[in-house]
Amino acid sequence: MILRAHRDEDLPEVKMVMSQAFSFGHIHQGEPGKIDDEKSTSFGIYEDSGLQASLEINHYKIYMGNDVQLKMGGIGGVACMPASRGKGYAGEVLKHALKMMKEREEHASFLFPFSWDFYRKYGWDWTGVQRTYTVPTNILKSSPETEYVRAITAEDWKVIGSVYEAYSKQYRGMMIRSDKHWEDILKHEEKTLTFSYAYSRDEKIEGYFVLRGGKKEETHIRELITLTPRAYKGLLGLLKRHDMQMDKFSWAAPENDPLWSQLYHWDIETKLEPATSARVVDVAGAIAAWQPATPLKGKFTLKVQDEYAPWNTASWKVEVDDKQVNVVRSSENADISIDIQAFSQVYFGSPNADQLRSAGRLTVHDEVAYAVFLQLFSGPSMWINDHF
Ligand SMILES: CC(C)(COP(=O)(O)OP(=O)(O)OC[C@H]1O[C@@H](n2cnc3c(N)ncnc32)[C@H](O)[C@@H]1OP(=O)(O)O)[C@@H](O)C(=O)NCCC(=O)NCCS
Repeated sequence: MILRAHRDEDLPEVKMVMSQAFSFGHIHQGEPGKIDDEKSTSFGIYEDSGLQASLEINHYKIYMGNDVQLKMGGIGGVACMPASRGKGYAGEVLKHALKMMKEREEHASFLFPFSWDFYRKYGWDWTGVQRTYTVPTNILKSSPETEYVRAITAEDWKVIGSVYEAYSKQYRGMMIRSDKHWEDILKHEEKTLTFSYAYSRDEKIEGYFVLRGGKKEETHIRELITLTPRAYKGLLGLLKRHDMQMDKFSWAAPENDPLWSQLYHWDIETKLEPATSARVVDVAGAIAAWQPATPLKGKFTLKVQDEYAPWNTASWKVEVDDKQVNVVRSSENADISIDIQAFSQVYFGSPNADQLRSAGRLTVHDEVAYAVFLQLFSGPSMWINDHF
């Protein structure tokens, strides 16, 4: 067998594997990218009989708080033909993806797993706590703030794009969206219209939501984002005006979302789940790219164990001075020992180092150094509101 990039002539076979793995035999609609494509890289394992396993890395960028942006490899389309399953082919394409992301300086990777165990083995682990609300329309409250809500069109994306950007910089993990991405979110579909509303005061937009389709029993809101409490009130008031059409609305929000402070009611259901599965691809690169939320001075030596990205398995001496973070390989005794799964969680801030320590997921050898480690990776919460 050989592992290689897909070529144009492989496209029908790639579609065949995707259709078999993800679409119950219906012809898969996505177009797999090519090896040098700016947007994605896809490759697979070929045998004499053809393509057996495939994987796609989507090349994204994410916000990591206000000051840091990171290249992120979004893993998708991991698939193996049924007759070749259990031979380690998916494992091989994942290991290859790690090397490719390292080369491209994609210091972090996200994916949306079918099984947490499957990807944990290769170094990914859950991060972030996402709330999904289901709210009966009749418990929502009318608000005078709704007078500031207006319908917007797909052409207004730049205006709401700037609200999204300001909001995203309060989190670790939100995607930096391309024009095409916004077009996909806001466009009308062949059989379904998209309705978007924004709260606007003094010619500034403070929040919006995007709604496509839905049904009487429950309608899912693609995105509801606000920068101010009054915008949240105004938009909830507009949802209330759908009382006679829709029984319930649902939407996803980060762990620190203020809905419970705006309106609490026994009939609000809040489901908690991880936001995504994340992995640090390059420990040294990721630490050097990070900045503490508040100026910090101190140092620690971190011993990392990473079976599938061996370049990370080492002791790393980290020195922080104000907002500057320096990281070098070290032979000094470790202050903290951690595996790549737990380090990836610490890096995205959720669960944090104290929570992981209580769960026995990291070992502390020096308390002073640990306090610096804990402080360095405190800061914005983790959330992402895009899937791939
Ligand atoms: C999931 C899938 C890609 C696995 O492919 P595969 O080539 O059989 O996987 P591998 O042989 O490399 O298995 C790697 C490891 O994962 C384990 N594993 C395989 N399938 C698994 C499953 N369904 N759940 C949990 N673990 C699984 C294997 O036991 C193996 O672990 P081991 O080395 O400790 O024995 C394949 O079953 C598939 O194409 N499924 C349909 C599409 C899909 O769901 N893709 C995932 C999208 S996120």
